[in-house]
Amino acid sequence: MADFLPFYGRRRGRKLSDGSKFLLEKKLPLYLLPNKSHNPAKIFTHSPDKIYLEIGFGGGEHLAIEAKNHPENGYIGAEPFLNGVSSLLRHCENQLIKNLRIWPDDIRFQFSLWPNSCLDGVYIMFPDPWPKNKHAGRRIINKDNLAELARLLKNGGELRMASDHPCAKNWILASILGNPNFDWPVVSPDDWNIKPQGWPETRYMKKAIAEGRKPAWFRFKKLVI
Ligand SMILES: C[S@@+](CC[C@H](N)C(=O)[O-])C[C@H]1O[C@@H](n2cnc3c(N)ncnc32)[C@H](O)[C@@H]1O
Repeated sequence: MADFLPFYGRRRGRKLSDGSKFLLEKKLPLYLLPNKSHNPAKIFTHSPDKIYLEIGFGGGEHLAIEAKNHPENGYIGAEPFLNGVSSLLRHCENQLIKNLRIWPDDIRFQFSLWPNSCLDGVYIMFPDPWPKNKHAGRRIINKDNLAELARLLKNGGELRMASDHPCAKNWILASILGNPNFDWPVVSPDDWNIKPQGWPETRYMKKAIAEGRKPAWFRFKKLVI
C-alpha cells in the first residue's frame, strides 16, 4: 500500500474544545489501533468472539452502541475526522467501553496489512456520496475497496450499509450487484425501506430523516466462493 493516499474528506471541523483536546491527547493512545497491526484478532485485551470494522464512524454513535451491547466482540473504527474521533472517545469513556480500537485515519492504510477472512462484519453508514461523476473515484465503494472487503470478510460475513443519497444508493447497489463476492439477500422492498431492528442511529441518519430524506438500508453477504 502506498504511503500516501489522497483523502478528500475533512480532517477537522469546528475548533476542538479543551475537553476534546484532552480526549485526543490523553485517551486516544489507550484506544489507538497499533500502526502496523497485522492481526485484528490480537489487538484486544480479550479474545473476541467476532470482529467488526466500521469505516467512517462519524461521531461514533453507531459503533459505540454496538461495542457496548456486545462486550464479547471486538470493534475497530476508522475515521480521519478528528472531531468525530474525540466524540467516539467521549462515548467510550462515558460508557466504559473497552472492546474498541480506533484508527484515526484513512482505513485504506490498514487493509493490506490484515489477513484474509479476519472480519465478521463491516459497517459503512452514510458514506460520502460524491455525486459528481468527476469525483466518482473518491467513493469508498469502488472496485479496489470492494475486493479488499471481500478478502477481509469471512464467508457469510455482513457488509452493513445505509445511504439517503439517490446517487449513492444506486452506486452502492450497482457496485455490489456487479461483484461476484457479494449477495444481496432480499425478498421485498421492506428489506431496504425499513431500518433493520437493532441498527443504532448515526448523526447523518438522524439528519437525513429530520430533513425528509428516505434512507435505504443494505445488508450484503460475503458469498462462499
Ligand atoms: C457522511 S459521513 C457519515 C458519518 C457516520 N457514518 C454517520 O452516519 O453519521 C462519512 C464519513 O466517512 C469518513 N471517511 C471517508 N473516507 C474514509 C476512509 N477512507 N477511511 C475512513 N473514514 C472515511 C469521512 O471522514 C466521514 O466522516
